[in-house]
Amino acid sequence: MTVTAVIGSQWGDEGKGKVVDYLAESADYVARFNGGNNAGHTVINEFGTFKIHLVPSGIFARSAVGLIGGGVVIDPAVLIEEMDMLNKAGLGLDGRLWISPRAHLIMPYHKILDGLYEEAKGKGATGTTRRGIGPVFADKVSYNGIRWSDFAREEVLTARLRTQIELKNRIILALGGSSLKFEDVFEAYRGYYVRVKPHLRELFSLVQDGLKAGKNFLLEQAMGTFLDTDWGTYPFVTASTTIPSAASAGLGIPPRHITKVIGVTKAYTTRVGAGPLPTEIHDTEGEVYRKFAETAATTGRTRRVGWLDLEIIRTAVQLSGVTELCLTKLDVLSGLDEIRVCTSYKHEGKDVIYADLDTYGLEEVEPVYRTLPGWQENISGVRDFGQLPGAAQAYVRLIEEASSAPVKWIGVGPERAAMIIR
Ligand code: IMP
Repeated sequence: MTVTAVIGSQWGDEGKGKVVDYLAESADYVARFNGGNNAGHTVINEFGTFKIHLVPSGIFARSAVGLIGGGVVIDPAVLIEEMDMLNKAGLGLDGRLWISPRAHLIMPYHKILDGLYEEAKGKGATGTTRRGIGPVFADKVSYNGIRWSDFAREEVLTARLRTQIELKNRIILALGGSSLKFEDVFEAYRGYYVRVKPHLRELFSLVQDGLKAGKNFLLEQAMGTFLDTDWGTYPFVTASTTIPSAASAGLGIPPRHITKVIGVTKAYTTRVGAGPLPTEIHDTEGEVYRKFAETAATTGRTRRVGWLDLEIIRTAVQLSGVTELCLTKLDVLSGLDEIRVCTSYKHEGKDVIYADLDTYGLEEVEPVYRTLPGWQENISGVRDFGQLPGAAQAYVRLIEEASSAPVKWIGVGPERAAMIIR
């Protein structure tokens, strides 16, 4: 396995948690390298049902060590709550969860500003999770961030935090929000630091030694390919790089070590928040919408839904060097008479690819559909590809042909065992 990255090939929520949970059994390290608690993985296993946002979801494998790289932004209250929940479930995180001191912290003003910016943008709002993600990454790259390492030097932290709170209060007040008190934030965050400190550790040597020793690393991307700041549907994206190369900066893994990239692909499309969704289904009363509609793990918002978009999958495979696909939720399609699949795009009468268009062009795109026959059988008990109805097999083969990547995993139900492995 060595270094395997698991990435979402759509707009997030592809069901990465389940395949990670599966692969973690043979991993020495399970790691997060991007995003923050805007991500939400639902993991169902013998310990129960968990919604986790920051701790790598592979932590359920008892022999795996969890790493949170410097590329992750951390809301410490959320992290502590999650650690408590996992410890209570008997997972014993002491000595097997390590967090980079390079990671930036989400401060209360980041969350306030996230909300105020969204409100100020009105109709042009991104539809963020309001977890402070955009503002914390903006502070990181404009040299205004607060990192865990700052807490080891109280005078440095005091001075930097005081400056930030003064600065942010001015913006907050100008936008009609309520200002923050330095003492309140300082005390709360010092308390968080005391709790998290036993898990803080520079990851450089650990990662380098692990690579040298041929240990297995499982890298868990947060969000999906098309929320990537550069390659996604900007400005309707998230604030961090989501393609596997982000693991290089975000964890200290040299790119040449990432030899396997699993592209997790939902059998249809969903998206939360604003931005183009070429295959969107607008009839919210119809059967298909009701089948595909889901509630987001992080925010409880209802996701927008659409037919499978092969142009999106093809682009993700190329961009991230996907070596195999994991198709999730194929069982959700059971019972439909016909299934539509977008095979390519047309824009102003011409054939185009995703990369030809900007976000606003993508909003105008005409998806070219192919209609396939559906299947009526319940497939959640199937474990062998050959036992799937012919129409379901044809659906999988079309995805392989269009993307030039083999579908090695097929999810047919929510439980861990509900998976066809080819
Ligand atoms: P932010 O990451 O909270 O700033 O939100 C920016 C955009 O990314 C919004 O459209 C969010 O709905 C979307 N987003 C962020 N995290 C996730 C996720 O885990 N799944 C799906 N969409 C997400």
